[in-house]
Amino acid sequence: MTGLTRMIGLREDAVVESAGGVLTITHPFGVTIARGLPPGIESLLRELPGTLADEDELARRLVAEGGTSQEVALLYLALSRLRPILVHAVEPLLRVIPIARDAVFLRPALSPGSTVRLSRFALVRRSREGLVLESPLSRHRVTLAEEAMPLLAALGREVMVKEAPEALGHLVAAGLARADDTEDEDPALRAWDFHDLLFHSRSRWGGNDQPFGATFRFAAELPPEPVVKPPPEGVAVELFRPSLEEIAAADPPFTTVLESRRSVREYADAPPTLRQLGELLYRTARVREVFGPGPGMPYEASSRPYPGGGAVYELELYLTVGRCEGLDSGVYYYDPLGHRLVTLPARSEDARAMLAVASAATGGLAAPDVLVTITSRFQRLSWKYSALAYSATLKNVGVLYQTLYLVATAMGLSPCGLGSGDAGLAARTFGLDWVRESSVGDFLIGGAPRDARSGS
Ligand SMILES: Cc1cc2nc3c(=O)[nH]c(=O)nc-3n(C[C@H](O)[C@H](O)[C@H](O)COP(=O)(O)O)c2cc1C
Repeated sequence: MTGLTRMIGLREDAVVESAGGVLTITHPFGVTIARGLPPGIESLLRELPGTLADEDELARRLVAEGGTSQEVALLYLALSRLRPILVHAVEPLLRVIPIARDAVFLRPALSPGSTVRLSRFALVRRSREGLVLESPLSRHRVTLAEEAMPLLAALGREVMVKEAPEALGHLVAAGLARADDTEDEDPALRAWDFHDLLFHSRSRWGGNDQPFGATFRFAAELPPEPVVKPPPEGVAVELFRPSLEEIAAADPPFTTVLESRRSVREYADAPPTLRQLGELLYRTARVREVFGPGPGMPYEASSRPYPGGGAVYELELYLTVGRCEGLDSGVYYYDPLGHRLVTLPARSEDARAMLAVASAATGGLAAPDVLVTITSRFQRLSWKYSALAYSATLKNVGVLYQTLYLVATAMGLSPCGLGSGDAGLAARTFGLDWVRESSVGDFLIGGAPRDARSGS
């Protein structure tokens, strides 16, 4: 490749200001201050946000305007201090933009005859900046021009360094391409699926420049999803409401419940009763109270027996009933405010398939009595949280699992959390659009355990 130029610039959101001999550069990762820089350097740095310049050309301009060789060295020093916001480009192909305070861009010495290929964790997507190349292992984002497409396509396999030394050096420096096989050999990296590492890195604080946490990014455009989903139409089954005083008096001690809790996949003959289901749901998942909006919480929230991030409570429960004394087999929505089940018009073959998938998740051990499928009304969380909404919903599923485990154990029922379920099948069975509300958890409830040591 010929006609390529190496250039540098500063992130376009950097603001360079000078006053009283102090140069202040404000950027997403903080503020960098430089004192006593010669005016020639200050004015060069003021030009750099959002533009690109040839580094040697900057030095030549400084000298042409009377700068000394010491001042040229000072310019390079000032640029190196701006590393977290320094953009490195190979024009017109690509621009490497730092996205974290600890971004390090060091071009490796690559021999012309060696080869380079794309990182296994790299991805290309459309963004506000056009087409971008990113990786959870990289502290940079690369914007790509159309001219870079042949090289990008070739990088799916190995490309000789001598075919594009400038661009390949930049991609390796940014961690988007690899000149070695570490990713395939390092046991720690091999253990990560592509999507898991991306999800993990983007749902934890730091490491990139995207909005994070309680940003309420949709507050000005959209109302929040309702705190309690309007129940679907259908025949309602009122559920038993236990007396909490009576339960508290009759329950085994907390430590006995905690220490005897286990996953049970094989049940005694008698299935759970409708009354037991009512008690279980009341003690684990009912709405105790609806409150808000209030100061610092611009949405309606609720209180339930299990904790939930931001008191948002985006999770919904659906029951696929194989066997339950007093309740027809079929599919039901749990209305947590009305504490009742609503019968859903699911096809019986879908209900059977739901139970079969759950049984398969136990290695075929369980012949499910009741499958509790947990869905997430994801928008309710993402209305408040940026970047961590999905990870928060999975955490909420975890605490609901444990609440179900403990209450079912206290009641002498058989609980078993499941690690997988079929989201497409669940959406069809419950009549949901899975982009709006999708299954994220699956939990089996059986009658009494078959024997004291069943399951593992
Ligand atoms: C998130 C999660 C996923 C699970 N997935 C499954 C599963 O798919 N199939 C299964 O039979 N057990 C599953 N279990 C149950 C575990 O196998 C069980 O908790 C573990 O073996 C420890 O045994 P114990 O629960 O009896 O103490 C799961 C448990 C949890 C918390």
